[in-house]
Amino acid sequence: MSAEAKTETAMPPEAKTELEQPIGMAKVVVRAPAAAEKPLPRVVEFRHVTKTYNLGQPNENTAIRDVDFFVEDLPGRGEFICVLGPSGCGKSTILRLIAGLPPQHPATVGEVLMFGQPITGPGSDRGMVFQDYTSFDHRTVLENITFGLECEGVSRQQRYEVGGHWLEQVGLNVEKDQDKYPHELSGGMRQRVAIARTLILRPRIILMDEPFGALDPQTRMNMQDLLVKLWREVQATVFFVTHSIDEAVFLGDRVYVMGRSPGTILEEMKVEPADRPARLMQRDPRFIETVNHLRDTISRLEEGK
Ligand SMILES: Nc1ncnc2c1ncn2[C@@H]1O[C@H](COP(=O)(O)OP(=O)(O)OP(=O)(O)O)[C@@H](O)[C@H]1O
Ligand SMILES: [Mg+2]
Repeated sequence: MSAEAKTETAMPPEAKTELEQPIGMAKVVVRAPAAAEKPLPRVVEFRHVTKTYNLGQPNENTAIRDVDFFVEDLPGRGEFICVLGPSGCGKSTILRLIAGLPPQHPATVGEVLMFGQPITGPGSDRGMVFQDYTSFDHRTVLENITFGLECEGVSRQQRYEVGGHWLEQVGLNVEKDQDKYPHELSGGMRQRVAIARTLILRPRIILMDEPFGALDPQTRMNMQDLLVKLWREVQATVFFVTHSIDEAVFLGDRVYVMGRSPGTILEEMKVEPADRPARLMQRDPRFIETVNHLRDTISRLEEGK
């Protein structure tokens, strides 16, 4: 929707807090002080969060400083948030703070909240997928996918039934793949297992730290298409860290751009949802305009401007 098309009455509550400037398929978001009439619950909120590792020691290092953002609980769907930024700017630190994983958790200063409550540690309401293929080597594909259900005490028959469904959902073959061990799988297949293992628990928040970073370009695009399809089904809020600007613009409803040392969020963009396969979307001139804008922004950041 163009800025002119918005009227006071037609504006959704969320839009009232944002001034938007279109760039190709996206808009730069400027949070304005005027609040929505009835604010939506916040899935995640960072309130002036700073994380300093090794506090008080000679190797003290502030990874992120004064990070302040929130993600609203939009009715009927979760948002897909992509986080871009130079290496070492604190992307993984932010993700692991949401996951409640030490030593990133707890924050040194500020608050990390989920639906208004402080995050006190890990929980099954948040699932995480990492770049390196973190499967249990001594467990088969099906045993890996159903591990979380096993921890929850679900019967073997029931978890294998649900596990078989998720195995197919991520594009693996029940007969051929379920009894394989991780060392018998390609990188793409292992990430499919990791995604199934996370989604089977239906987390409210999915945290993904460069999950496709080690995949070849073709497999990566296939995985992006798969993720868009699955995410629409599970209705979770996703935080997705990537170094690929194309990936962020394709997948994200919003893109956060971080600056380095200590990291903070410098720009937020709202992006149109993916309505085509990655391979087609990436050819659209409006898509390219957004990517170029982000590339210039990140170059400026890397040059320290
Ligand atoms: N466990 C830790 N102990 C001490 N310092 C850490 C720890 N984890 C991260 N850091 C430091 O915090 C800063 C941010 O690290 P982080 O891993 O969050 O960056 P990143 O943006 O994810 O980087 P990359 O893109 O390379 O994965 C870096 O300077 C890093 O050295
Ligand atoms: Mg990282």
